[in-house]
Amino acid sequence: KHFSIAIIPGDGIGPEVVNEGLKVLKVLEEVHSDVRFVYDFYDWNCEYYLKHGRMMPTNGLNLLEDYDTILFGAVGAPTVPDHVSVWELILPIRRHFQQYVNLRPVKLLKGLESPLRYKSHDDLDFVVIRENTEGEYSNIGGRLHEGTPYETAIQNNVFTRYGSERILKYAYSVAESRPKKRLTVATKSNAINHTMPFWDEIVKEIGNEHPQIDVQLYHIDALAAYFISKPESFDVVAGSNLFGDILTDLGAAIVGGLGLAPSGNINPERKYPSMFEPIHGSAPDIAGKGIANPIAQIWSISLMMDHLRLPELGKLVLSAIEEVLFDGTVRTPDLGGTANTMEMGDAIVSKIREM
Ligand code: NAI
Ligand code: MG
Repeated sequence: KHFSIAIIPGDGIGPEVVNEGLKVLKVLEEVHSDVRFVYDFYDWNCEYYLKHGRMMPTNGLNLLEDYDTILFGAVGAPTVPDHVSVWELILPIRRHFQQYVNLRPVKLLKGLESPLRYKSHDDLDFVVIRENTEGEYSNIGGRLHEGTPYETAIQNNVFTRYGSERILKYAYSVAESRPKKRLTVATKSNAINHTMPFWDEIVKEIGNEHPQIDVQLYHIDALAAYFISKPESFDVVAGSNLFGDILTDLGAAIVGGLGLAPSGNINPERKYPSMFEPIHGSAPDIAGKGIANPIAQIWSISLMMDHLRLPELGKLVLSAIEEVLFDGTVRTPDLGGTANTMEMGDAIVSKIREM
């Protein structure tokens, strides 16, 4: 079976970690002889922007439309404002292809220790589902009275019934599929008095169709604290675009850092391609040194395999990552080791071959 993949390496450490991901795709073809990945590369990044004045060509989204899936590295460079690089590349892909689910596992892998040292592997294993198309990341707003003391910036939050219902239905259905049957939803309806009470109402409405799910609404500030004090109480955590974004960097930090944290931008209806990428950005501070941890990218490929209905390959990739970490000899500097990006990738590839 052939799967077509559009590959967008991006900037900084993006191409460095995507290279290791490519090695993993190749070895998966070796171990699973009736699977073939065919891919094309798209050089849409900040360099492209400096040459063409856009992050992608005008027909960029059309070019991506017919792929089975998209593998993304990271974008962002000091030469282009971040709101341009992110708004003109990642966000249009997420929105155009209705990738309204941003799925981000928070799981402490074997062989790693959490900075929350008193928490065990069983305590740290949940999934965050972030709304990925609307909410706080709206394009609506503006700047008034620029250059005067009355200068004002306004950014509107957009919560539609359609958008809120579909993400919360998805979150409930993931909670249904897991043994703990527990859903925790981030809110802030005590202070944000239009959008958040609306969101809470929808949480409750959909909850009526899922009487077996134990649902809990927490204000985002308290919830952030609970990520540290009682992460073992979570199973599925759902949040709006901004809240989910913040919670997942925090989630990454409690299970070993951004170098490990994967994500899927998923269109559950499979009408459009879904996109898999590490949570982290282009890390200009370490770009070019060859020391970025490729695990976040490789774990994203594991999520991609699950989405392509190749769960045995998804499991294989994640187990190989875990085994290598458990062996403990090959680790990048973010995990306290001295291995470089390629050595880390190679170790995972050899492990997949062995397994
Ligand atoms: P970042 O995630 O790039 O880096 C944060 C910190 O984590 C840095 O100290 C970095 O060295 C470290 N780090 C990140 N990934 C790592 C890895 N694989 N291995 C080892 N260490 C790693 O976030 P930052 O610094 O806020 O943003 C840098 C650029 O990336 C900006 O231009 C930003 O807009 C962009 N960005 C892009 C994203 C994307 O493409 N989806 C997501 C987040 C940020
Ligand atoms: Mg983020």
